[in-house]
Amino acid sequence: MATIIDGKKLAKEYRMKLKSRCDDLKNKGINPKLAVIMVGNDKASQVYVKNKSKACEEIGIIFEEYLLDENIKQEELINLIEKLNQDDSVNGILLQSPIPSNLDINEAFQKISPNKDVDGFNPLNVGKLALNQDTFVSCTPYGIMKMFEAYNVDLTGKNVTIIGRSNIVGKPLIQCCLNKNATVTVCHSKTKNLKEHTQNADILIVAIGKAKFVTEDMVKDGAVVIDVGINRDENGKLTGDVDFENVEKKASYITPVPGGVGPMTIAMLMNNVIKATENSKF
Ligand code: GUN
Repeated sequence: MATIIDGKKLAKEYRMKLKSRCDDLKNKGINPKLAVIMVGNDKASQVYVKNKSKACEEIGIIFEEYLLDENIKQEELINLIEKLNQDDSVNGILLQSPIPSNLDINEAFQKISPNKDVDGFNPLNVGKLALNQDTFVSCTPYGIMKMFEAYNVDLTGKNVTIIGRSNIVGKPLIQCCLNKNATVTVCHSKTKNLKEHTQNADILIVAIGKAKFVTEDMVKDGAVVIDVGINRDENGKLTGDVDFENVEKKASYITPVPGGVGPMTIAMLMNNVIKATENSKF
């Protein structure tokens, strides 16, 4: 039976440490602030943003929400980003994705000041991560790396297989794992013989958004399995991309859904806001 990686507990410990760093800033008269932009009414985004606002409240970070109509023009979105870039009271800017498809999200991410880019999506910060330089690491990959650290999972020389190549999770994870000296394989919808790659993985990270996609037969004995998925099963219950009940019997470590990667993602966002504030004031 696998050890369950308790993301919920670990994230709480991180938030407590961040609260103390936030208190130190406040004692110096500095009040960290996160500005979140949401365009349209995506239901899942509303839940994510609510959770981000709760975490800010717990730590003492000011949370400012900008809700934009789904019909806004690109120019209005860019104007808002530029206004927030100029505003010295704003330390972090987050544009919640997805946004309506007629808008250009890449241009928007590029306009967010690299110093306030707490999601790590500005191309400059993406490049810095690729060069293994200090930067804002995007929050889900960063949270996963912190889980490895906390559970003493050493990546050196390990075969890491990532399923999913999104800009938000899969691609930055490649760099994070490579920076820790892993041998990295990335699988996606066009990959042939997926099972061969997953069975070879000492560490398997799944981020595709398909409920219970990874089954026991795809996993090597003793593998570390990280589940980034958040899906609803046929009964409306939250479930990951991994068939947890069966894979748990074979893995050495596994993350649950909920209570695994999700809370760590938010804790790392909070970390990045505090880091941005500390960077800007000293
Ligand atoms: N949409 C889904 N995940 C994320 C995230 O981590 N950041 C942003 N900005 N949008 C998202």
